[in-house]
Amino acid sequence: MIAIGCDHGGYALKVHVLKYLQEKGIEYKDYGCYDASSVDYPDFALPVAEAVSTGEAEKGILICGTGIGISIAANKVKGVRAALCSDCFSAQATREHNDSNILAFGERVVGPGLAVKIVDTWLNTPFSGDPRHQRRIDKISAIEDKYFK
Ligand code: RB5
Repeated sequence: MIAIGCDHGGYALKVHVLKYLQEKGIEYKDYGCYDASSVDYPDFALPVAEAVSTGEAEKGILICGTGIGISIAANKVKGVRAALCSDCFSAQATREHNDSNILAFGERVVGPGLAVKIVDTWLNTPFSGDPRHQRRIDKISAIEDKYFK
C-alpha cells in the first residue's frame, strides 16, 4: 500500500497522481488534505511518514507547493528517507542508492505529466542492494539513533 498526502499547495497534483495510481491498480491510502483550503504541511507529512515508519505502508508520496517543507517534516520520523525529486534521473537514483521510502515533489515545480513519470520511475526502481549504498544508509540510521529520533 502507498500512503499519499499533500497540503493545499499540492492538492491539485495529488488528484492527478491518484488518477494514475487508480489506473495502474496500485493500492493507496489518502491521508489528506481533501481540498485546496489552506493547511499546514507537517500535519499531512506526519501520518504518511508514520505509516511508512511502522510498515503499515510500503512507501509514501508527499506533495506540497515545492515539496521542500513536506519532505523536511517527513524526514524527522524514524526510518523515513524522503527524497525530493523534480526529475526522473533523481527518482531512479534515490531508489537505487538511498532506498528512499517516501517520494516528495512540488506542484509549483513539476507539471502533471512529469510528476506521473517521476512517480512511475520511483515506484518501479528497486534498491540496488549494493553493499556500499547499504553501508551509507546504515550510517544515516546511526545519525538518527545518535541525535534525535
Ligand atoms: C504553502 O504555501 C507552501 O509553503 C507549501 O506548500 C510548501 O511549498 C512548503 O515547503
